[in-house]
Amino acid sequence: MTTFRAFLVEKNEDRTFTRSVVDRELDDLPAGELLIDVKFSSLNYKDALSATGNPGVTRSYPHTPGIDAAGTILESAVANFTAGDEVVVIGFDLGMNTSGGFGERVRVPAAWAVPLPQGLSLEEAMILGTAGFTAALSIHKLERAGMSPEGGPILVSGATGGVGSVAIKLLDQLGYEPHAVTGKEDQHEFLKSIGAREILSREDLEAGSDRPLLKEQWGGVVDTVGGGMLFNAIKGLRYGQSAAACGLVNSPNIPASVLPFILRHVNLLGIDSVEQPLAEKIEIWGKLAGEWKLTGLTELKKSTLSLHTLSEAIETILGGEMVGRGVVDLSL
Ligand SMILES: NC(=O)c1ccc[n+]([C@@H]2O[C@H](COP(=O)([O-])OP(=O)(O)OC[C@H]3O[C@@H](n4cnc5c(N)ncnc54)[C@H](OP(=O)(O)O)[C@@H]3O)[C@@H](O)[C@H]2O)c1
Repeated sequence: MTTFRAFLVEKNEDRTFTRSVVDRELDDLPAGELLIDVKFSSLNYKDALSATGNPGVTRSYPHTPGIDAAGTILESAVANFTAGDEVVVIGFDLGMNTSGGFGERVRVPAAWAVPLPQGLSLEEAMILGTAGFTAALSIHKLERAGMSPEGGPILVSGATGGVGSVAIKLLDQLGYEPHAVTGKEDQHEFLKSIGAREILSREDLEAGSDRPLLKEQWGGVVDTVGGGMLFNAIKGLRYGQSAAACGLVNSPNIPASVLPFILRHVNLLGIDSVEQPLAEKIEIWGKLAGEWKLTGLTELKKSTLSLHTLSEAIETILGGEMVGRGVVDLSL
């Protein structure tokens, strides 16, 4: 098969962007050591930015987004992979300026591919996807910084979103007490069903932004939103605890002072799933397939998307209205 179906974003002369499902040629794909038959992808916030022309994510169009892909190798130019191997590709340049997982084929460097870990199916890997991987990476880094269930409740912002919902479920399974921050009043039951013990509104978390410090509450923070909400969460950390910053849906800026850092000995940890070295990616995927394998993982799959329903879902995630994970099934 030299043609394959793909979701394509095109830039128009008036600088608007058009999204459609088209047939593309294998020759449209960049050079790379692995040609992969993509079975599943997933929708992440960054894909919505790529699909709407955000130059910080994608510079050249026409382009097929999709920062996640899971599938079977069709052709390999390297010895450590052979045709038929199942692999997961997340991050690096996939779906940014390299044609991504919203197409039936991707061609990538072998150094981007993680062998599908035993214990996860291709679809389960994409229920997690970059969002789930980032939640796990955040918890992994927080634990290395000393976070433990005895340290106090863990605050998770953007709780109904992809990163937030996986973080809550994983923290609950690991014996923590996750507290969820959400803007969606109609999703409290969902949040409780995946393990949230307490639910705060965004306004709750924004309260006290004029105060230098807040009551010591949190044994850790997984923050997906940035802005004043992140700094208020830092001001509410217990002595010596840490916050992991992985997102910016509220704001990329933090209105901050050094006071919590020098008076409470707290830490702000950076989380990047994109350029993280392959060996560390393999370690986190191994955890997600093994000791951290989520029971009831499919509860997080709130929508099954096809290439044809992606466009509408992109508007949903951009509007902050996404709940849980949206998995793209390329067979649909
Ligand atoms: N660092 C990394 O490697 C990495 C990896 C993956 C994702 N990210 C980033 O993490 C963030 C979340 O990604 P995602 O895929 O989980 O997105 P998502 O599914 O859209 O989740 C984001 C959630 O944040 C909340 N939210 C939306 N707008 C908000 C606002 N203006 N103020 C406060 N909360 C708001 C909403 O949840 P509620 O309604 O429940 O509040 C929304 O569902 C994005 O910024 C993404 O780029 C970073």
